[in-house]
Amino acid sequence: MIFAANFKTNHTRRSTELYIKALKEKLLAKKPEDQVYIFPPATALGTYEGDFTIGAQNAYPAKNGAFTGEIGTEQLEEFGIKTILIGHSERREHLGESQDDVAQKFAFFKEQGYEILYCIGEPLEIREEGDEAVMEYLLAQFDGIDISYKNLIIAYEPIWAIGTGRSATVEEIASTHESLKKTVQKPLLYGGSVKPANIKEIADIRGVDGVLVGSASLDAESFAAMICHK
Ligand code: 13P
Repeated sequence: MIFAANFKTNHTRRSTELYIKALKEKLLAKKPEDQVYIFPPATALGTYEGDFTIGAQNAYPAKNGAFTGEIGTEQLEEFGIKTILIGHSERREHLGESQDDVAQKFAFFKEQGYEILYCIGEPLEIREEGDEAVMEYLLAQFDGIDISYKNLIIAYEPIWAIGTGRSATVEEIASTHESLKKTVQKPLLYGGSVKPANIKEIADIRGVDGVLVGSASLDAESFAAMICHK
């Protein structure tokens, strides 16, 4: 299983250091085959030693240059970071990233050999239209994306389940993952209100290869409880 923590705009550099220190002790109990990823905010990126991978939540598709307010691969590689999240619904929604923007970013980071955690997910009004509409919407989020890229992990995150406390049901996750796997044969994570109370039922779903966790990952104890759940 893959366990990924997306801090979004939470935690500082100092609190990330303390978090990682606390998490590292707990990770001694994790299964060796399980993989842990942490995506802190840009100001907390750094070189941290341990049995986990640090990734960037976002970066500009350039090595460096005149892109005020952005960071590029030169800034990431100072810390040995070669993993990035692309396509998160919050960037699509709040930062106005179009499918074209997302695809361009994907192509750039693929070219640089980055491991890409690519996010897709539908809004509530699409989910309410039924399974066919959901799949049509999700597959359109693969437009311009090389889904055969070897360093690719996909995260399915229904927008209506993000930060709402209301996860998708086991049936919704199972059927969506099963349908997605017909198109994309890559590790497929579920995200959206994953927490210690529902990790077991979600992790046990066939077709769920891991989870991408926001709110419930912000506390090291809570994230560790999910990683080490039995
Ligand atoms: P929550 O776990 O807070 O619902 O967020 C999920 C998410 O968006 C992770 O990328």
